[in-house]
Amino acid sequence: MDIKLYFQNTFETLPERCYFSPGRLNLIGEHIDYNGGLVFPAAINLGIYAAVSSTTNQLVRFSSMNYPKNGIVNINLSELTYKEADGWTNYAKGVILYFKDKGYTIDHGFDMAIFGTLPTASGLSSSASLLVLMVFVMCDIFNIDISRTDMALIAQHVENNYMGMHCGIMDQLIIAKGVSKKALLMNTATLETQAVSADFEGYTWVIMNTNYQRKTTDSKYNERVAECKIGLKSIRKEKKIKFLCELSMDEFKKLQHNISDEIVLKRVRHVVSEQKRVIDAKKALELHDAKWFGRLLNESHLSLKEDYEVTGLHLDTLVREAIRAGAIGARVTGAGFGGCAIALVPNDRVLDFMRIVGISYLGLTQIKADFYTVEFVDGVHRYE
Ligand code: GLA
Repeated sequence: MDIKLYFQNTFETLPERCYFSPGRLNLIGEHIDYNGGLVFPAAINLGIYAAVSSTTNQLVRFSSMNYPKNGIVNINLSELTYKEADGWTNYAKGVILYFKDKGYTIDHGFDMAIFGTLPTASGLSSSASLLVLMVFVMCDIFNIDISRTDMALIAQHVENNYMGMHCGIMDQLIIAKGVSKKALLMNTATLETQAVSADFEGYTWVIMNTNYQRKTTDSKYNERVAECKIGLKSIRKEKKIKFLCELSMDEFKKLQHNISDEIVLKRVRHVVSEQKRVIDAKKALELHDAKWFGRLLNESHLSLKEDYEVTGLHLDTLVREAIRAGAIGARVTGAGFGGCAIALVPNDRVLDFMRIVGISYLGLTQIKADFYTVEFVDGVHRYE
């Protein structure tokens, strides 16, 4: 059943508009988007579909095709406070509240059905996909004319302040501004983006899902953000920088004595080294040097494992087995602590690769991994 039909069955009328909001994978540049770094994400063809119609009442009615048993959830436009029990509809409430608080005229309700094809809690950014989708839908229905960058900033604002997740801007910006067949080289200090082809002839990007998610991901994530803030403050005692990613490795080595906490020191080392890897990754792409790119992926994973400590048994196992099975590079993608990794795999090995890694991962962790190949697609859009 498609989302249009689901809407029709649920709300007993045809939807006026249909939308798609992608998920994201990040090729390289992890945990530096809140440190003013360069990152390299792409929007993918797994994401969230929505069917929507305006109504004349004051209710927003939601239904998810992924959870049909939950039926229709009603939200009153005058009751938008966060409630844990409201689950995913909190994301929608947060966005509506944002627009109301900013003085936009939100004078009627709407019905909305959604269907997500992103695996849940997989680190492929289902939350940012939903938030950017909501912002986009609200702009479309209420004729709010803002740029895609502002849409991303609003989605990030809601995630930071309403949901309490202190994420950077990477996910929202790629979901708002993704370009078909391209990844975006994104400067998170200036919000400038450059669409770049991320294809290496003869190789395929494979997403590997650990199907393991730690419950404490958000709090651990916020802990890393806080550690970077301490690192920045310490460095600023000697050098007035705005973001940690302004530091070269040489500068970091000269200034590192300002950081007294060993853990914070490791976090900052990751940030500075990861920034350099993204710059090198761009060069590797320009030179069509897949093997160099692969080595950078491996180095990124190692740094996220040893210095940033966001990987864990499941991701490390999957990445190790991926290299054994012939990937020329592999690393965690997204926040980490579980979720997905990516691998760059020779085309003629992809099927064998998935089979072999799947078997060894299952044997080692008793969990079945999932594998996907995806397309890079445009950012959030209306298609009907
Ligand atoms: C999550 C956050 C992003 C980014 C990544 C790690 O996806 O939402 O802002 O920090 O983790 O790179």
